[in-house]
Amino acid sequence: MAEKTAQLVTEYAEYLNTPWRKDFPVLQTLVHENKPLAFLDSAASAQKPVCVIEAMDEVLRSGYSNIHRGLYELSQNLSQAYEDVRRKISSFINALSDKNIVITRNATEGINLVAQSWGQVHLKAGDEILITEMEHHANIIPWVLLAGQIGVVLKVAPLLEDGTLDIEAFHDLIGEKTKLVSIVQVSNVLGVVNPVTEIIAKIRTFNSDIKVLVDGSQGIVHQGMDVQIIDPDFYVFTGHKIYGPTGVGVLYGKADVLEEMAPYQGGGDMIGQVSFTKGITYREPPYRFEAGTPPIVEVIGLGAALDYIDSIGMDNIIAHEHALSVYALDALQDIDGVNLYGTQDLTKKDGIFSFSVDGAHSSDVATILDQCGVAVRNGHHCAMPLMEALGIDSTVRASFGLYTNKDDIDALIAGLHKVKGFF
Ligand SMILES: Cc1ncc(COP(=O)(O)O)c(C=O)c1O
Repeated sequence: MAEKTAQLVTEYAEYLNTPWRKDFPVLQTLVHENKPLAFLDSAASAQKPVCVIEAMDEVLRSGYSNIHRGLYELSQNLSQAYEDVRRKISSFINALSDKNIVITRNATEGINLVAQSWGQVHLKAGDEILITEMEHHANIIPWVLLAGQIGVVLKVAPLLEDGTLDIEAFHDLIGEKTKLVSIVQVSNVLGVVNPVTEIIAKIRTFNSDIKVLVDGSQGIVHQGMDVQIIDPDFYVFTGHKIYGPTGVGVLYGKADVLEEMAPYQGGGDMIGQVSFTKGITYREPPYRFEAGTPPIVEVIGLGAALDYIDSIGMDNIIAHEHALSVYALDALQDIDGVNLYGTQDLTKKDGIFSFSVDGAHSSDVATILDQCGVAVRNGHHCAMPLMEALGIDSTVRASFGLYTNKDDIDALIAGLHKVKGFF
């Protein structure tokens, strides 16, 4: 072990192994001839703690019914529990009210909802939407679709060579016609943390009418969010990356902005009155945007996940993931032929490392690592414009969660030495 690495292990000892790991049953799984699983793909989807699994199991076994409609006890109780989770989400991101919280299926749906329900009403041909080159496709394609529908113009802010946002170029692209800025909190490829507080404050000084959407799909997990301090108009995240189930996400919107938005989909639960003679009215936000039977059991699971995070404390999670990043960075930099993408300044990035190995395609690297029990992601990570900006077609990505420990990183490093032996 290199001297610096040994020193880091001592310095960060209390953080490098995690008492929370035992809460995640799947991490006990053995893969490929009894190898321990080193799960390093949390940026794609996080594993679930037993409290989430049990909360969902409990509802399905003894509390399940549809919500918001039945007068019987099961339905009343579950409706209450569902609305309690809305309050929990609101407090988790420090929203002013649970009325700011729209339950969606995922982050992708939240962004599409804003594009259609806000964009169709408030934008016209020639208006500009500003995004960045590091966005996930979920924060690109909804705006491209809107551009095709009503002729808005999509502007894309470039990155600096180190993969961080070119803030000057970003500011230069904000002009008279800018109506919406939509930006990721933490890049899912490079782990780059955008300074969203400063960015939003600056946008407000240019023009307080510009709306800002922050894609918190990765950010909420590694950084948390306080919507009153950071002040976005919209904030989206997805349940499955924050240790909750798939099929549930969140759109936060400021009250006055949500109020002026049209329904997204039509159906049950979002209407006030439906009459072919007297007309149709819609409910107030957030219910106006929640057509049809919602993901009831998944919402309960998300509530359990947020309680779990609260029980650990976001600050402890941040400290743990930072320690792992320090350790992983040192170990990765020590391997000849492993090339890390983007900034490695750990004050500007978080828990996600993208890299290549000389002479090996990312899919070969991921396949060999898998044989060693190390689960990483390879490919374009749904961020093809970022790949283009970096001049590559894919990376190998290792991403951490609150359950990741030093052994996982040691397994990755040992696996990479094996990869190097092949090429
Ligand atoms: C930054 C970012 N935005 C949006 C998404 C989309 O999340 P979902 O597919 O759950 O809607 C992802 C998923 O990887 C992401 O990393």
